Amino acid sequence: MEAATAAGVYIPHLCHHPEYTPHGSCKLCTVKVNGRTCSACTFPAMEGQDVLNNTKELNDDGKKSHKCCLLKVIICALVAKKPETANCRQSPII
Ligand code: FES
Repeated sequence: MEAATAAGVYIPHLCHHPEYTPHGSCKLCTVKVNGRTCSACTFPAMEGQDVLNNTKELNDDGKKSHKCCLLKVIICALVAKKPETANCRQSPII
């Protein structure tokens, strides 16, 4: 993720933040590295890698991940009954 950002390539992401340890939970940053599907935020960049981040397959999967994340946030907020104070990382359903 950092290598792509440094190269001026935007990779959509949701759970990644440069100040926290990557955990790869939302899958919104999924890319293909040398033909293998992986999370850009957790997969280490190395010289010579062939990275694809904008294919029909990846974009379709990204839309599904985005919908799934939004659904989790909505469920978490409903379970918490106080959406403004909901902490989804502590929810047993996520
Ligand atoms: S940004 Fe969420 S898995 Fe990479």
